[in-house]
Formats: sequence, C-alpha cells, structure tokens
Amino acid sequence: MKEAKKYIIFPLDMPTYDEAMNYVELLGGCVGLFKVGLELFISQGPKILTSIRNVCDSGIFLDLKLHDIPVTVKRAFLAACQHGPDFVTVHCDEGGESLKSAAGSNPGNTKILAITVLTSLDRFKLKELGYEDKFAEDISVLALLKARIAKAAGCHGVVCSGHEVAMIKRELGNEMIAVTPGIRPAWSAVSHDDQKRIVTPAEAVLSGADYVVIGRPIRDAADPADAAKKVAEEIGAVL
Ligand code: C5P
Repeated sequence: MKEAKKYIIFPLDMPTYDEAMNYVELLGGCVGLFKVGLELFISQGPKILTSIRNVCDSGIFLDLKLHDIPVTVKRAFLAACQHGPDFVTVHCDEGGESLKSAAGSNPGNTKILAITVLTSLDRFKLKELGYEDKFAEDISVLALLKARIAKAAGCHGVVCSGHEVAMIKRELGNEMIAVTPGIRPAWSAVSHDDQKRIVTPAEAVLSGADYVVIGRPIRDAADPADAAKKVAEEIGAVL
C-alpha cells in the first residue's frame, strides 16, 4: 500500500527559483510529488527539475496542460519527456487525436494524464462557453466523456475533481490513474478561492483518487510542513 504522504502533490505555484526551492527543501520529506506548472517552468526552465531532484527523491509532475494541434502537442510532449518527469498533462479539449499523438510517441516511463474539466469551472462558465445543458448542469457527464476519450487514446489517467473520481474509476477501471485538485481540508480557509468543485483530502481518497493536488492550504499555512503532515494523517486515517 502506498504511504499516505505519497498521495500528496504539492504545486510549486511561485515564480522564483529561490521561493520554489525553499518549499522543496521544506516539504521534500512530506509530499509524494512536486508539481511544476506553467508559471515556474516558463520563468525558470527545465533546470528547476534537476534542482528538485538534487534536493529530494519526490517525484515530478510537469503540469504543462498542453493544448494545441496534434503534431505540436506530440513534439512538446517529446521535449518534456527528455527531462524525465513522472507525469505530463495534456488537455482533452482538442479531442482524442492530440492525446493519441502524445501517448503513441511516448519514449520512456513518463505517464500522460489528460485534463478533463478544470475545477475552477462551474455550470455558469460552461454555459458561457457554449456547452449544452446536459454537460453544464451535470459536469460529471462531461468529465466522464473526456475521460473515455483519454482512455481510448492511451493516456495513463486523468485529472478530475473529487466529485467525478468515483464514477470515472467505476466506468473506466481502477488502473486509470485519477489525480484530484480542488482539495480543501476542513481546517483550511483560502481567501478569494477560485476553486469551485472542492472536496477534503479524505473524501478524495475515499472516492478513489490516486493523488491529490493541494497547494494554498499547505503553501499559505503558518507551518507548511506541519500542514502537509496533517493532510497525510487525514489520508492515512482512511487508507
Ligand atoms: O490547492 P490550490 O487551489 O492552491 O491548487 C492550485 C493548483 O491546482 C494549481 O497549480 C493549479 O494548476 C492546479 N489545478 C489543477 N487542475 C485543476 C485545478 C487546479 O492542476 N483542475
């Protein structure tokens, strides 16, 4: 059984090398993976991945959320794989062909995760974007549709909210990895929160999440390492 702390993916949502590496040093022993997203990757480049590896043995989740025509996604994915991340993310919104072109060209052990529906989206925003009511009114229908496309394209898993993870696991099988952002422990208060479809760490894991992405509740805590330990304890209690 995976250790509780290994479920935690901590996003290094900060622009500078020093800030990011401070959190890596602080949390290296407390989380399973560090998520390097667009802000840090664009500002620091691939060297940040080497620096993380030099400090700890946590995994690397390269959250590039690739979204472009299939050939561009494939080439960007191959370029990302050269840095040996454990995971790279690709958007579902271009359809199966982009996902397939990345999955079919995978040169190593990097796993491809498909982004289904961002947890910052709610029914109002989906309607604004032109989605039919059957998707906007029940986001899980949309998330499942996208997860099916991801599985058929050969992706290893999906990123989805804690509200959809049980259904996706049930329909697509337990081997489909589910990463769940939008995590808010009962004790955390994030001001001006942009996450809409939230769950607690325990709820996510009980629903079948293989990993939880949890940022601000840890990053902005008075003692981030202690906050990460509390999240791990909460997960450990339901394993
Ligand atoms: O816990 P918090 O809201 O601070 O986490 C923010 C992080 O979650 C960001 O790095 C963002 O990219 C990520 N995220 C994600 N997928 C979503 C929503 C947020 O990876 N659907």
